[in-house]
Order: sequence, then C-alpha cells, then structure tokens
Amino acid sequence: MGIYEPVIRSLAFLGDAEAMHDRAVRLGKRLGKSPRVTQWLTRRYAVEDPRLRCVVAGLEFPNPIGLAAGYDKSGHTVKALASLGFGAIEVGSVSADSSQGNPRPRLWRVPRDRAIVVNYGLPNEGAEQIARRLRDVELPVPLGINVVKTNRGYAEPEEAVFPDYEAGVRMVNGACDYLMLNLGCPNIESERDFFGTPGRIAELLRRLDAMELNTPVFLKVSPCGGDAFLDQLLEEADPYEWVKGFMFNLPPGKPVPLSVSAEKLETMPGAIAGKPIQELIDERTAALYCRMDRQRYSLIAAGGVFTAEDAYRKIRLGASLVQLLAGLVYEGPGIVRSINEGLLALLERDGLNHIHDALGVDAR
Ligand SMILES: Cc1cc2nc3c(=O)[nH]c(=O)nc-3n(C[C@H](O)[C@H](O)[C@H](O)COP(=O)(O)O)c2cc1C
Repeated sequence: MGIYEPVIRSLAFLGDAEAMHDRAVRLGKRLGKSPRVTQWLTRRYAVEDPRLRCVVAGLEFPNPIGLAAGYDKSGHTVKALASLGFGAIEVGSVSADSSQGNPRPRLWRVPRDRAIVVNYGLPNEGAEQIARRLRDVELPVPLGINVVKTNRGYAEPEEAVFPDYEAGVRMVNGACDYLMLNLGCPNIESERDFFGTPGRIAELLRRLDAMELNTPVFLKVSPCGGDAFLDQLLEEADPYEWVKGFMFNLPPGKPVPLSVSAEKLETMPGAIAGKPIQELIDERTAALYCRMDRQRYSLIAAGGVFTAEDAYRKIRLGASLVQLLAGLVYEGPGIVRSINEGLLALLERDGLNHIHDALGVDAR
C-alpha cells in the first residue's frame, strides 16, 4: 500500500470523516484536470491484463473492480478516479432535484471493524447539472450513474416517487454507459422500504419503458426481504429486457454488531458499510445468482471488499462485477492494483484462464 496506510491514512483519519472526504474529492478534481497527472496515475495503478477483461450488459470493463456509488456523488472527480485502475466508475446517487442530504454529522469511521457508518441522505447537485458535467467526459472505463428519488427532507406520497425517478432518469439518460436505479437507500426512513411492496418496482419499470433508454439498467435493491423479495424482483423485472442486472445496497440500521459502545453507537445513526456487511451481501448475491436467469442478468456486488480474496469470493458466488468504497477509504488508492494483481494470482492458483471462469462456481 506504499505510504498511504501508515502515513496519509493516519493524518486523514485525524479529521472529521466528511470534511476529509470532501478534501479528497477536491484534490481528485484538481488532479483530473491534468492529462499528465492522470497518465502517471494510470501507469502507477492500472493493471492491464486480458484475463481480467469482462463484458457485462454489452459493455467492456478492463477489470471487474469498480468504484461504488457514494464516493463521487456529483461527478466531480471521475477522471482522477478512473486513473486509479478501476474497471468502472459509478457516480451518485443523483436525484432529479439537488438535495442537501441529512444534517451533519452524517459519516463516521469505525477502523477497528473496517466499517463506515453513513447517513448522508443523498446530497447531490441534481441530475441536470451532473449530466451536463459528465455528458462529454471521455473515460477509459464505463461510467455508471446511480439515480435515486430526491430527498426533500420530508415524507412524500407514493404518487411523488415515480415521477421523481422518471425525471432523474430522463435527465441523465445519454450521459453515462449504464444506469443504476437505487431502489433501496437505507437512510431515508420514509422511503427505504418503498420498493419492498409488490408491484412498485413493476410500476417504475413500466413508466421508464416508455422512455426508450439507450443504456443498460441495473437495479440496486435492499438486501432485506429474504428470498420472497428476490422472487418478486425477478418477476417484476422480467418484461423489461433493458434491465440487465442487480446489486444490493446496504441494509438499514445496524443488523451487525460494531465494536463501539452502545452510547457511541447512539450518536451514529445510519447504515454500516465495509467489512461487517460482507457476509450478508455475499449470501444474498449467491441467493440471487441461483434464482435468476444467468443468460439474461448479471450481478454487481459491493460490501466489505478489501482484498483480492474478498473480490474473488464475490465473483465465485455469482458477481460478474465487484465494487468497493470502504476499501478505498481504508486502504487508499493502491487497493485496486493490489486486488487486480491478487485476482491474477488467484486465477493461476486455481488453474483458471480468465476471470469469467470463476463466475458463480461456489453459488448454491
Ligand atoms: C460514504 C458512503 C456513501 C454512500 N452513498 C451511496 C449512494 O449515494 N448511493 C448508493 O446507491 N449507495 C451508496 N453507498 C453504498 C455503496 O455504494 C456500497 O454499496 C456500500 O458501501 C458497500 O460497499 P463497501 O463495503 O465497499 O463500502 C454509500 C456508501 C458509503 C460508505
């Protein structure tokens, strides 16, 4: 990990989590403006190897390790991020109207658990402005935009939810290579279970169908609701051939223990990202892989990926692509290279020629 882990991380972790994150995004924005810098970063961090290339939903990914939504919410730093060797960059979540998100503080690190507690509440600059920013950006990897309903800070009636998604999708359509619909944000209490009600995913997809989207669409759903929810999801997505796959969001609340006192935990509302949710996401990924039509759908999995072994496990459980966010915060920019090099070593160990030979081999 070079000097990131011992030096930069110690310094970065002294400050408020969100302030440090904002600083990192501002730095990325500056670095991304210089082609010489991004070329240098690419030489340092990107792993070029045909064994890692993937084709998913008709898109080519140089490797399966993408950046998850939530790091670059308004698409300011995609160029610098792409030069860190990621196989894809996902911006957002982005909503039709801009939003301030939840009140601060709303982001905490729990290093002992390799966890992040997040209660951002979807702050972003709004779909139109973000789409304008991204529309003509050329990246060496696929760009995803993650779309969610605008968080206005108060509960809205059901009738307001669908048009808001429609407006957000319309605004970003054509500004990215794939769309991720965030249908299960854990931190908007009034709406986080909205799509758990049968018929609502179908209704949203029916409305979007009229839009003639020109990009593949993935659905990011809650990992709660058990297998019954997975069956419902597959049934409701079935008529829409432009739905190309799924991923799981964070579970709401604190379904897994953290090594902090109950009092401290009280001060950290929100969902847990990072190591503690790894097992849940892995289990749900395998369950969905076993149920879905694998000729038609692909899975993307994020949750507690810190090492090549973590990513490889997700792939072997059925994820065609893997994403990370907490790992970048804890391990620094060298994490993508280290995972990609590690994946190549794991393929060699297992006598496999290509990363897709590992897809789903452990799912049951
Ligand atoms: C700080 C932070 C912000 C996030 N914001 C979003 C978001 O806006 N939209 C979304 O779909 N997921 C969001 N997520 C969830 C991540 O995209 C990802 O699914 C999750 O963090 C699991 O990956 P990880 O364990 O590698 O962090 C966020 C996660 C974190 C840690």
